[in-house]
Amino acid sequence: MSHSKDNNEILSDYYVNKSRINNPDPARLIHGLRDTGYDFYTACADIIDNSISANADNIKIKIDLTIDGRKFVYFGDNGHGMDEDDLLNAMRYGAEARENLASLGKFGLGLKTASSSVCLKYSVISRNTPNSVLKKLTWDLEHVAQINQWEMLDEEVTENEVEVFDELCGKVGTLIVWARCDRLLSKAYDNPGGTKEKNAINYRVSKLKDHCALIFHKFLNPEDKEYTTVTILVNGEKVTYWNPFYPQRSEQMLPPKFTDMKIQLEDGSTHSARIKAWILPHSKDMKKEENSEFAKISNRGQGFYIHREGRIIHYGGYMGIWRADDPHWSLLRIEFDFNHHLDEAFSVDVKKSRITLDPALEEGLKKLLSPAYNEANNRYRRKQAVSVISGVSHNDSNRTITETENTAQVKVEDADKNKGEALVSNNKGHRIKIITPVENNVDPESLYVNAVDEITNGSLWEPFLTSATDSHHETGVHINKKHDFYTKVYSQATKNLSVEGLDLLLWAFAAAEHKNTDEELKYMWEDIREEVSSNLRKLLRSIDLPSSE
Ligand SMILES: Nc1ncnc2c1ncn2[C@@H]1O[C@H](COP(=O)(O)OP(=O)(O)O)[C@@H](O)[C@H]1O
Ligand SMILES: [Mg+2]
Repeated sequence: MSHSKDNNEILSDYYVNKSRINNPDPARLIHGLRDTGYDFYTACADIIDNSISANADNIKIKIDLTIDGRKFVYFGDNGHGMDEDDLLNAMRYGAEARENLASLGKFGLGLKTASSSVCLKYSVISRNTPNSVLKKLTWDLEHVAQINQWEMLDEEVTENEVEVFDELCGKVGTLIVWARCDRLLSKAYDNPGGTKEKNAINYRVSKLKDHCALIFHKFLNPEDKEYTTVTILVNGEKVTYWNPFYPQRSEQMLPPKFTDMKIQLEDGSTHSARIKAWILPHSKDMKKEENSEFAKISNRGQGFYIHREGRIIHYGGYMGIWRADDPHWSLLRIEFDFNHHLDEAFSVDVKKSRITLDPALEEGLKKLLSPAYNEANNRYRRKQAVSVISGVSHNDSNRTITETENTAQVKVEDADKNKGEALVSNNKGHRIKIITPVENNVDPESLYVNAVDEITNGSLWEPFLTSATDSHHETGVHINKKHDFYTKVYSQATKNLSVEGLDLLLWAFAAAEHKNTDEELKYMWEDIREEVSSNLRKLLRSIDLPSSE
C-alpha cells in the first residue's frame, strides 16, 4: 500500500522531481467534508433518498441511545441492495455517476458527507439476494486521520447488526449504521444516557418525523398516484404525510391553463413544470387542532415549496420575488414541481437543495402569481379587519334615532314581509307602493341601524322597513359589513361619535329614499346607491385594511 506523503516529501517531489501531483490530505479532507451544510434532518433525508432510488418501499430508521450515552442511528431499507463491488463503489468519496438522473445524486458524495456530518464512524451493510452473505464496509474518520490514508475498515458484521438488518431490512436491502454520533445532539450531557439526554433524543425523533412528513409527502401519501408509495418508520412509529397545501380546505388560485409551465430547453425538447398557488384558510376560520395538525399556518411556512422528482428540496420564501417575512401573506403556499430534465433550466445547485431563477422566469412567475399574492393578503387582512370591526357598535345611533321624534319619514300603512313591499304615504302621494325589504320583531338594539354580513348587490347601504313588533314600521338602514367603507373606515372610527355620525348619515339617506320613491323610481335610487358604493370602493382601494396587531 502506498503511504501518504508528509509535507517534506511533497516539497521535495515538487522541487527535485518536478512532480505536480498534489493529492489532498486525507485527514484534513475527510474532517472538512463534515461541514458541507447538512443538519441532522437534511442528512437523514439524503440517506432516505438513496433508499427510494434503490426502489425501497419500506424504510425503517432507528435512533438508539445506550444506557452509557452512546448514540447510534440505523437506516434500513428493502431496496435492491448491493453486492461487494457495488458496496465498494457506494463507499467511495465520488462514487460512479448514477445511470438514473432522476435520483438525487450529489456527485457520488451524499451517503458519505451526510453520514459524516453526524457521526465519526459509519458502515454500510447490504445484500442483493436473500441467500448471499451480508457485506459490510466502514469509514472511521479517526482511523483515516490517524494513518492519514483513505483506508476503510473491514470489520465483521456483528450479531447485533444481523439482528438489526433482519428487523429493519428483511431479506434484501441495505443498512446504514451511524456510530459515534458526536453531532446528533447539539451539546454534551453531564449525565450521558440520562433523562435529559433521552428527552433530547426523543425531540430529535419527533422532529425527524415532521421533517420526513413534509419532504417526502408525495411518497408517503398513498392517494398520490404520481409517485411510488413508501412507508417510513422512525423508532417503530409510522410517519404520516403532511401535505402543506391542505387541499381539502385551501383554494388553488391559478386558472388550470396556467398550472402547466412549458419550458423549452436548448436542445429543443420541451418539459413541463407544474405550479399551483394555494391560499390556506385563515386560522380564525379553523379549529385550533385543525390548524395545528393540518394547515400549520406560520410566517415561515409561506412561499414556495419546490419539489424535484416529487421530493421537496426547498421550502419557504419567494426566491427573491417578494419578501418573505410578512405575516400578511402567511396564507399563501406555492406548489412547484419539476423533474430532472429541468435541472439545468432552474440551475439546480450542487447540493440540489435550491434553484435559481433567471430574470425572465422570475418576471413571468411574478406576473403569474401576483393575483394570488394580493388575494392572500386581502384574505388575511379582511379576516383581521372583521375581528376589528366586530367591535363596532351601532347602539348609540339606534338610541339617537329612537329618541328623535321629528325626523321626516314615510308613514307606513301596511308592510308585507313576504312580498318585500309596503303601502306608504310619502312625497309621491298616499298609498304609494314601494318595494323594500320588511323586517318584523327586530332587536331594539339594532332597530334602525343594522350592520349585515352582506348586501347582495354590493351596495354600502340599503333602506328597509323595520319594526320591533309586526306593525308600525319605520325606516331602517342595513349597512354592508363587507363593503370597504365598513372594513376600512368604520373600523377605524374608534370614537363612538364617529361611528354614530356615519350611521346617522346613512340612515338619513335611507329615510330620504323611502320618502321619495315609488315602484318606478326604485331603480333610480338603487342605481344611485350602487354608484356611490362603487365609487367609494374605488376611492378606498389604496387605503390599507387595518390589522388587529
Ligand atoms: N440504500 C442504498 N441502496 C442501494 N444502493 C445504494 C444505497 N445508498 C447508496 N447506494 C449506492 O451508493 C452510491 C453512492 O451514493 P451517494 O454517496 O449517496 O452518491 P449519489 O447519490 O450521488 O450517487 C449510489 O449511487 C448507489 O449506487
Ligand atoms: Mg445519494
